[in-house]
Order: sequence, then structure tokens, then C-alpha cells
Amino acid sequence: MRKKIVAGNWKMNLDYNEGLALFSEVVNMVKDEITGSQITVVCSPYIHLHSLAQLAKGYDKVAIGAQNAHQNESGAYTGEISAKMVRSTGAEYVILGHSERRQYFGEDNQLLAAKTDTALKNGLKPIFCIGETLEEREADQHFDVIKTQLKEGLGHLSTEQFEQVVIAYEPVWAIGTGKTASAEQAQEIHAFIRNEIAEAYNQEVADNTTILYGGSCNPKNAPELFAQADIDGGLIGGASLKSRDFTDIVKVFN
Ligand code: 13P
Repeated sequence: MRKKIVAGNWKMNLDYNEGLALFSEVVNMVKDEITGSQITVVCSPYIHLHSLAQLAKGYDKVAIGAQNAHQNESGAYTGEISAKMVRSTGAEYVILGHSERRQYFGEDNQLLAAKTDTALKNGLKPIFCIGETLEEREADQHFDVIKTQLKEGLGHLSTEQFEQVVIAYEPVWAIGTGKTASAEQAQEIHAFIRNEIAEAYNQEVADNTTILYGGSCNPKNAPELFAQADIDGGLIGGASLKSRDFTDIVKVFN
């Protein structure tokens, strides 16, 4: 059975001490709330990773992730962080292809395919983000955009590699805008993604893939979103910065 995941994406928020304080609060609040095959992942800035991984020790349903990692193994790339470095902190996940990275840092599907390979090679599980912009949705191109992002970003992976990947559907028009895709709109895309995976691999692989919804997910809308057949949890931005809101979202699966 596929895992349910509620993952927080702190983005570029919280200094070192603020991050540790929030994470300690979150762990205390969620540790008794994570049931069944659910896990909670906190994706922090790099500077927090090692300390958070230490704090998460002993809680096998709480994991840590980074928000990016470089496509090369090592070398003269001043200011960059490699997948191996991320893994060495104790982090297990890495967000790749977030729309903010695609939009502000020019990351395209080819680059993300390389980042995915390097992350997997170094033992990190990618949380691979896909999703259409408002213009693309209004032009009725959303299915094509998602199909291409999947194919070009992940289509080259073997079954064993793909089984390590979590997908996050993030409609760009619903990120940080307060707008959410309706549960029906989100389910429609999630079902489409699962079907694409079944065609590329097989039905069993598709059924085992965790597909998260991201885009203004909050304690109010999470119950309806997470009740959809193909929505296996969320990638949470703003609401992951408030321990109460994040915990309430984790509890939706109880
Ligand atoms: P918000 O939840 O703040 O809309 O952000 C979503 C997101 O980008 C998660 O990665």
C-alpha cells in the first residue's frame, strides 16, 4: 500500500534557532498523531538539516528533506550543495522541480532529470514537483504540460528508481495565492498522473506511487482534498510554518 505523506516546505523562511524551535514543537505535536503508513517530512533550508535530523532520531515516522540539490556530484560550483552532502546530514528526501525553482532559477525538465539521477544515486528520495501555470490552464494545456514534465523529468528512470520517487502536483496558480484547486480539479489531475505512471511502468507501480497535492493546502481544505482517491497527502508551504496548522493537516489521516 502506498504511503500517505504530509510534507512541509519551509521555503526560505526561519533562521536557525526559529527552525529548531518550530521543528521541536511540530515533533512533539505530531509524534502521537501519525498513524498507519503515514509519514511526516519537513523540508527545511540546508542550514537546519543536520540538527533537525538529530532531533528526528527515534521517530521513525518523521523524516527530513532538503528543498534542492545540485545535479553534479561535486566540484567548483561555489555556493551549491550536493546530494551527497544533503544525505550526509541525515536528510532522506529532496524536493526537486518546485515551480519557484523552475520559475526563478530557470530549472527545466532536462536539468531536473539530471538532478533526479544524482539525488537517487546518493540515496535521496526525490519529491518531484509538477504543475501548470494559470496561463497554461486557461489555454487548456494542463494535461500536456504535466505529461511532458513527467516524461522529460522522470521518463528515463528504471522501475526500481521510480519507486523511490514521490510526486507532488502543484498548480502554480494556487501556490501562495490562497487559491486552491477544487478537490475535483485536483483529483482529476492526480488520476491523470497515476494513469500516466501506469502507462509508463505498470499498474502496480502506479498504485504504489504517493502523489501529493501542493498549493495553499490548509487545515480547512485538507480533509476534502485528502479524501480523494488519488490524493495521498500534501506538500504544504505557508501552513507548515505554524505548528498548530501543520499538525492539524497531519491529523487529517487519523
Ligand atoms: P503554499 O502552501 O504556501 O501555497 O505553498 C505551496 C507550496 O509551494 C509547497 O511546496
